[in-house]
Amino acid sequence: MISNELLVSLAGKYGTPLFVYDGDTMLDRYNAIKEAIRHPGLRIQYAMKANYSVGLIKLLRAAGSGIDAVSPNEVDFALRLGFPSDRIVYTANNMGDAEFERVFETGVLMNIGSLSRLRKTAERHPGMRLCLRFNPDVVDGDSEHTMTAGALTKFGIPMSDLPAALELVRKGHLHVVGLHEHTGSGIQHAGSVYLAMERLMSIATRENFPELEFLDFGGGFKVPYKPDDHALDLVSLGSEIVSRFTAFEKSYGRELKILFEPGKFLSAECGHLVAEVNTIKDNRGRLIAGCNSGFPQLIRPMLYGAYHRIDNISNPDGRPVVYDVCGNICESGDRFAEQREIPEIREGDLIAIRNAGAYCYSMGGVYNLREMPPEVVVRDGNAVAGRRRLERGELLDIICNESWEAQK
Ligand code: LLP
Repeated sequence: MISNELLVSLAGKYGTPLFVYDGDTMLDRYNAIKEAIRHPGLRIQYAMKANYSVGLIKLLRAAGSGIDAVSPNEVDFALRLGFPSDRIVYTANNMGDAEFERVFETGVLMNIGSLSRLRKTAERHPGMRLCLRFNPDVVDGDSEHTMTAGALTKFGIPMSDLPAALELVRKGHLHVVGLHEHTGSGIQHAGSVYLAMERLMSIATRENFPELEFLDFGGGFKVPYKPDDHALDLVSLGSEIVSRFTAFEKSYGRELKILFEPGKFLSAECGHLVAEVNTIKDNRGRLIAGCNSGFPQLIRPMLYGAYHRIDNISNPDGRPVVYDVCGNICESGDRFAEQREIPEIREGDLIAIRNAGAYCYSMGGVYNLREMPPEVVVRDGNAVAGRRRLERGELLDIICNESWEAQK
């Protein structure tokens, strides 16, 4: 846990806006999954897209995690950070040929999620080892944008296309060593996890796929964001998962590895975005607390209507006052919270936006030409790693160079 005092002192040292991550919280969540899913073949494949802060990922590597990668750069990044290629699974969607070949060369296992790509693979890489992603037709997640299965999704091979997939596998002499499904992010009901598992296990027969080494049930473990959100009962989820998977292994006739790809669960709660409120405005009774960050740095409220707790860490005991907490971007939707009760905010106070460790920095951008904030990773109360703030002009150097290239 990172105290408000520590956040204030780090903000004093590194300036604001600033992302602060608690490495201990991330490792705690990692170990909680390991404790809950007690299966000798458990492999945790961190979904790097949630947060690619080097300091955090190195902690996970040391703890034994693998990586779920979704772009060639994520693969290269994981390799550069020392993950062995056999601990990375590549699950991009709408993969182009050049991208496929680039990742294929690294030796990382490819997870194929369309008949089109499977057909090309069978033709061009006969005999290849691969994983197949199926659509489990279970619709769940914390926002319609983050549900990745069912009739409206672009992801995975529909189960009804299983015969066509098997035919391509046969024609290309492909070795299917893994099957994969991912239901969504922030799965609300444990029942959806079990149902999606059952659907995948139902097609994972010896007859269909005799060479299986693992089943991968994706990510999506729920994290509480709102005050009344209940936390995931990881222990009962874990024991149910293990008993269902063990029963499956018996019918398959062999022990297999069981993979999960958590992103949010590992990283969300370890992150805090610290910003300074520099302007209090009273728009005819509606109080606006304007701060020096904005939606390009934390887009979840604007994109998904997501709730992030916001604390006034300079005046935690102030009287409760209702604010719209806004950023410094030239758009009306640039709001972190609407009509939120927060201890009184004075100009110069620091606020901490909580649960800012997953899909915040990693979804960031430089809209309005405001550079992304630096990041600090804390362990045991000390800053141990990070990424510095860009100097004035550094961002412009990159942009000017790009424009010059485009004109050539
Ligand atoms: N595996 C696959 C194939 C995925 O597509 C994802 C997330 C994960 C694992 C990790 O899911 P997680 O454990 O983090 O829920 N930007 C959204 C979340 C998008 C998730 C995309 N895929 C958000 O901020 O809520």
